[in-house]
Amino acid sequence: MIDSFGRRIHYARISITDLCNLRCLYCMPEEGVPKKDCREILRIEDFVEIAQVIVELGIDKIRISGGEPLVRRGVLTLMEEIGKIDGIKDFAITTNGVLLPKYAHALCEAGVRRVNISLDTFDAEKYRMITRGGDINNVLKGVSAAFEAGFHRIKINVVLIKGFNDDEIPRFVELTREEPIDVRFIELMPFDSQQNFAYGRYLPGNAVLEICDDLQEEPRDDPSSPARYYRLLGAKGRVGLIEPMSHGFCGQCNRIRITADGHILSCLHSKNEIDLKPALGNRDALKTLILRAVSEKPMTHRLSEGKLSERAMNNIGG
Ligand code: 5AD
Ligand code: SF4
Repeated sequence: MIDSFGRRIHYARISITDLCNLRCLYCMPEEGVPKKDCREILRIEDFVEIAQVIVELGIDKIRISGGEPLVRRGVLTLMEEIGKIDGIKDFAITTNGVLLPKYAHALCEAGVRRVNISLDTFDAEKYRMITRGGDINNVLKGVSAAFEAGFHRIKINVVLIKGFNDDEIPRFVELTREEPIDVRFIELMPFDSQQNFAYGRYLPGNAVLEICDDLQEEPRDDPSSPARYYRLLGAKGRVGLIEPMSHGFCGQCNRIRITADGHILSCLHSKNEIDLKPALGNRDALKTLILRAVSEKPMTHRLSEGKLSERAMNNIGG
């Protein structure tokens, strides 16, 4: 699929639930999200149908996210079914890691090759605070479980938060020296649902380069990746910067998003979305709606102009 700006769209992120077992301050409202009527949320077989149709349309990379995807009942069946679809070259999941001790092995068996784990601090107290109650030991066990299960690539996502984890940047960077792990620092994005949190806490990705001046830029392996990669001399893993605020990467965007309630979003920050639910069970109708979403994909987001999505991050899936 090619959009109206000539970008090839071949990557889909599918959020399979809004729910999460954590409540990160920058992502979720404290009370959590009202549990949606189950008629609003897609069934496992609906996700499978949509995945099959988008792969027929040329999607070859699928990432499953949430909320927290591993809290969704039936997640393993879903992963197994998607893993069986011919034509997917890259199958990945983004998780907070808490349930990886239980699921890492089975995910690998289902064909998931890459896992991104969110971890914003190494300090148990700070972790409890930023996640509103999470236990860091669960995530650390999750990271170990992911290593043992044998994923091809493990990435740690760190949201940069001024006054919260800037002092831990060197420690995260050091982790890449001994472990074949990519640490990616993500610029904090404002969402309507947590705008007050983001205010004054934004830290540009460049801060990482200023603090760790021995990082060497790596050649780009994937031109559409939103991350710029760096490496410490001789290190096993890489350091990535994802800078949606300071370095727009919309020009290379190759993705669409499917939300747990069955809408297709052509841009993370767009209010323009199409409900796929009425077309479920009819592949041609689904294709028509998906192609329409791709043709309406905007050139860029307008975050810097304060145009924020009304959906919260847990609701879009990152
Ligand atoms: N800004 C930047 N990153 C965010 N994430 C969640 N909310 C935000 C935000 N407001 C990250 C999570 C996870 C990924 C899916 O998105 O930490 O790593
Ligand atoms: Fe849950 Fe991820 Fe949102 Fe944290 S950022 S509340 S782990 S969905």
